[in-house]
Amino acid sequence: MWPYPTMLAHRGGGTLAPENTIAALACGFAYGFRAVEFDVMLARDGVPVLMHDPYLGRTVAAAGHVFDYAAAELQQMDAGSWFAARFAGEPVPLFAEVAAFCQAHGIWMNIEIKPAPGFEAATGAAVASAAGRLAGAPLLSSFSETALAAAAAAAPATARALLFDAVPADWLARARRLGVVAIHCNHKRLDGATAAAIKDAGLGLLCYTVNTVARARSLFAMGVDAICTDRIDLLTPDLA
Ligand code: G3P
Ligand code: MG
Repeated sequence: MWPYPTMLAHRGGGTLAPENTIAALACGFAYGFRAVEFDVMLARDGVPVLMHDPYLGRTVAAAGHVFDYAAAELQQMDAGSWFAARFAGEPVPLFAEVAAFCQAHGIWMNIEIKPAPGFEAATGAAVASAAGRLAGAPLLSSFSETALAAAAAAAPATARALLFDAVPADWLARARRLGVVAIHCNHKRLDGATAAAIKDAGLGLLCYTVNTVARARSLFAMGVDAICTDRIDLLTPDLA
């Protein structure tokens, strides 16, 4: 039911490195994590890159949308300085570069499709097409049902998960319609009855973003299959 790793480093390296960069992946790897979650968005030229926000400015000192720039331009941008001076010059990575790093290091990927508003179908299709060519059975996920439907059409054999903050009442109908293998949700909004119902339906269940050992243990006791964490220094990869 959950053939994947149980402990994932959120955005690559959690709070220990600049999110969604190769440096973050290297940090997660150094802490023993062999599974990772990261966010993927399209550049202007349709190339998937790692980025959480549709607007630049928080992690990259530039103006405008991610989709205002070609991937080659984004690759020249500094996605590390905002976090700490020692990461200055750490670039915005292409999804292809990140996938190559993960495959070379034996890191399993939960690829969150993070479309900018209006680009849901295009992002789902492009990311799924790229992910579908990878070995190692990555898991796609998204809050966007439009993106997941496009992903299913583009790469039907690549597993998908439906992301929620709070799990809505009609989660099962949505999950069945999209053919997903798992529900991913905010652990702060999950109750035991919903967790049990998701497991009873034969679906996987992953919670984000769990940052204490006690909470992780209580979630696993509730039947949660996997968690992603920002505190890769506190929560060890073998915790489950
Ligand atoms: O995929 C789980 C989690 O990453 C979803 O929230 O905003 O951190 O991408 P966010
Ligand atoms: Mg994410």
